[in-house]
Amino acid sequence: MTTQQTEKIAQLVEKREKAFLGGGQKRIDAQHAKGKMTARERLAALLDERSFEEYDMFKQHRCTNFGMEKSKFDGDGVVSGCGTIDGRLVYVFAQDFTVSGGSLSETQAQKICKVQDLAMRNGAPCIGLNDSGGARIQEGVCALAGYGEIFQRNILASGVVPQISGIFGPCAGGAVYSPALTDFNIMIQDTSYMFLTGPAVVKSVTGENVTQEELGGARVHATKSGVAHFSAANEDEGIEIIKKLLSYLPSSNREDAPLLDCNDPVGRIDDSLNEIIPDNPNKAYDMYKVIGSIVDNGEFLEVHKSWARNIIVGFARFNGRSVGVVANQPSILAGVLDINASRKAARFVRFCDAFNIPLVTLVDVPGFLCGTQQEYGGIISNGAKLLYAYGEATVPKVTVSLRKSYGGAHIVMSCKQLRGDVNYAWPSANIAVMGADGAVEILYGKEIKAETDPEKQAALKQEKKDEYNDLFCNPYNAASYGYIDDVIEPRNTRFRICRALEQLAGKKQENPQKKHDNLPL
Ligand code: HXC
Repeated sequence: MTTQQTEKIAQLVEKREKAFLGGGQKRIDAQHAKGKMTARERLAALLDERSFEEYDMFKQHRCTNFGMEKSKFDGDGVVSGCGTIDGRLVYVFAQDFTVSGGSLSETQAQKICKVQDLAMRNGAPCIGLNDSGGARIQEGVCALAGYGEIFQRNILASGVVPQISGIFGPCAGGAVYSPALTDFNIMIQDTSYMFLTGPAVVKSVTGENVTQEELGGARVHATKSGVAHFSAANEDEGIEIIKKLLSYLPSSNREDAPLLDCNDPVGRIDDSLNEIIPDNPNKAYDMYKVIGSIVDNGEFLEVHKSWARNIIVGFARFNGRSVGVVANQPSILAGVLDINASRKAARFVRFCDAFNIPLVTLVDVPGFLCGTQQEYGGIISNGAKLLYAYGEATVPKVTVSLRKSYGGAHIVMSCKQLRGDVNYAWPSANIAVMGADGAVEILYGKEIKAETDPEKQAALKQEKKDEYNDLFCNPYNAASYGYIDDVIEPRNTRFRICRALEQLAGKKQENPQKKHDNLPL
């Protein structure tokens, strides 16, 4: 090699080494001191070893306002490119807080848009690790335009490729809307926060005193707002969640999720399920036990674990096949459907449907929550979201009614008329307009009250309840109409679901052509 070429290569190596340092060692140390990894460390932990292909390492901003021409760093505050996770292609970007606080410039936005475009074109997930002070203030409207470009791509990619956002530091102002448009947000406890306006602005506008953590920390978004789908104890855990989540998903809507080898016998029976339903209908049991018993190796990746806990949603496998599980949780608020539970499950059902992931629904629901708080909050339109989500879903849908399945909630929870493909019920199922107590009160309340002898009154009430229970509070009435395909022994549930999903693997169903739907947002 000539000396000239050697020098050029040495220059490249030097330039790379400089770019690797982002905003410099001092700022890297400051990042570590906060208990945070750098953008490159995060990508190294996320991607398969030596799989990262970086783009635009040498891209720099073009801003000349406020002396910015003197402050330029290669990469401009984001590290972007592609790599593999468990051998599967993904596109990634990680904002680099050591360069201008990871703030978004016009050129940083161009880098992010490039990987978004490639993810779409090549049918691979797009993962963004956010750690940014928001719009680069010195660039004014050009930074805002950059956000606009990113949001537009988030919207077009929705339902085409999975989009996952890791919130690994600040994410404030309008910047929150990119993660909000993506499919899943993972937040890190104590080091990440998301809010539209920070504590100082809140104080000046509303007078409210609030810390960053109280306003938009991981705990708040994982338990109160539902903005965070996962809350991790630290960055390593957050990265593991992203990898695990991807293992359940197809790379795009053009594919099915990976089918894994399954070492858990399909025909494994669990006698404890035959006894899990208490005799007393008002007594709770833990739906996690049912889920853990029937899915492959008891493995369940729960989404929104700490928000709207009266409904459970998450990913699992049956005989190696990825499914979305939706289950009422009788041990929280009796498993009632309220506003948050409806929103949580609706978004999950729509995600699964968009990405060809079959749905398994476990039903034990006393109905929708009533009262002014729910009505004023719009339980009607929010409940309709879940109804809509199930009704439009064309993926295989297997439903098991375990116990209560009452009224509108019965319909919403993937009933036959919402194109449930296979609807099973346990012998303990009650499929009716409402429970016996409420029904007898409405139908015979006056008659019962007219009976003055308390003993006779109680006997009459019991007689009417028995009559109602005999007719409706069982699965056989619904089965006699074909609304339930079969009544199954609880201990065989795993086998029956596995077999149903096998049968439905080739399902093809289409909705009418339209520009787009108008679901009750
Ligand atoms: C330019 C920024 C910046 C920004 C931080 N920096 N935010 N530079 N534009 N938005 C720079 C700082 O000047 C500093 O540069 C470095 O990043 C680190 O910032 P520090 O303040 O020293 O760090 P820290 O104390 O950890 O505080 C982090 C922070 C704070 C809480 C994020 O920097 C902050 O409040 N930034 C502004 C947040 C904000 O209001 N953004 C605009 C939101 S509105 P040096 O050179 O010293 O390292 C918005 C609109 C988007 O984003 C609309 C989209 C539709």
